[in-house]
Amino acid sequence: MEKGFVHYPYLSDDYSVYNGFNIKQLCSKYKTPLIIYSMRRIIENIKNLKIAFDGIAIHYAVKANYNPFIVSYIIKNGAGIDAANLNEVQLSLSAGANPYHIIATPNNLSEAELFQISRLGITINFDYQGQMELISGHLPEIVSFRINPGIGRGEFAGITTAGHDVKFGISPEDALQAYKSAKKYGARRFGIHMMTGSNVLDHEFFKESTERFFDIAAKISDALGIEFSFLDIGGGFGVPYDLHTKPLDLARTADYIKENFSKFKNRGYFKSSELIIEPGRYIISDAAILVSSITSIKNSDHKIIGIDTGMNTMIRIPLYGAHHEIKIPGYVDSEYITLSDIAGQVCENTDYLAKNILLPDVKTGDLALILNAGAYVSSMASNYNLLGTPAEVAIDHNSDILIRKRSTLDTMISGFLK
Ligand code: LLP
Repeated sequence: MEKGFVHYPYLSDDYSVYNGFNIKQLCSKYKTPLIIYSMRRIIENIKNLKIAFDGIAIHYAVKANYNPFIVSYIIKNGAGIDAANLNEVQLSLSAGANPYHIIATPNNLSEAELFQISRLGITINFDYQGQMELISGHLPEIVSFRINPGIGRGEFAGITTAGHDVKFGISPEDALQAYKSAKKYGARRFGIHMMTGSNVLDHEFFKESTERFFDIAAKISDALGIEFSFLDIGGGFGVPYDLHTKPLDLARTADYIKENFSKFKNRGYFKSSELIIEPGRYIISDAAILVSSITSIKNSDHKIIGIDTGMNTMIRIPLYGAHHEIKIPGYVDSEYITLSDIAGQVCENTDYLAKNILLPDVKTGDLALILNAGAYVSSMASNYNLLGTPAEVAIDHNSDILIRKRSTLDTMISGFLK
């Protein structure tokens, strides 16, 4: 029999209380679908990263969740920012980030947008030489390139961002030319970046990828006499999405990275280089639950439980084949005995949040909790079918704070000509 998360952070064993708050009562107040965040868990995740990655700068990847309340909370807890474009940069600045603690890693942005990012004093991890040359007259103080170290790893092909057949970064050979060109344009300070994939649970991968990365950086240093101001190894630190998956051994991952770094330092490299990581998922994934209401139950060849949210909010399920645990408050684990599918309200047959899972004999009006709803859920949700995006509530100390209003028909069509 499928068992629930024994230790989903701050969720009670019968799934009815989250971070000290009765979920049903929160839903009576705010309605469903509702994303509830545990700010306490966010702080804990940052703290755990800080302990493991002692001496390494943490830049939160805003794409994981760009809710301004959450971004400013993460910044207040000592993180810098990884941004993908001007909007993410500007949101981070208005959430209180120091421009010196923001690094942008843009992909295929226009010359105008790159120029504006650079003018704000933001360091850029350029995707390739040509992108840097678009703004060669207005380069940021520190010029950095995104390297493809030749290997990548991600939970799914769609979130593997280095290795073969990826759109990101450049080979070590092309990087050599790119830095040469940057020097020619007057750059005096340099960084180097990689991002090899997302949701990686194998610490050995980080050992191999950073070894390769530092080696590439050392060779570029030798060839061009460059002392890197920073080496940015990206994010990708994975979290389990079910009880059966072993969590990433964060301490070992960090130790491998630090050991590799020291090895190169002992050989005389990276004397004054800062090491940077860019976690997104690790900080926020298990710090939220998405709560929906069961709106219908259809018993045909399959039992299909219909809920008031679907792929419009949880696109990562049909997009990658991702798995999220689904739990029903008020039932104990031994009642999870009926094979069921869970589907949303979107007019597509990809709109399943789970298929053939064991659930209790639920009734309409029951709540369904989708776990690990902090990362890449709100930030990837759409208005498809005009279903709208959920309200979001933060549990901070002992208060519940509405940090995003539910979208309405008016907010969804506000930009259209009527
Ligand atoms: N840095 C860069 C340059 C990135 O592109 C990303 C994520 C990160 C950092 C943060 O990676 P994380 O620590 O969160 O793994 N939408 C997908 C995940 C895509 C990740 C893309 N890049 C999902 O729902 O799983």
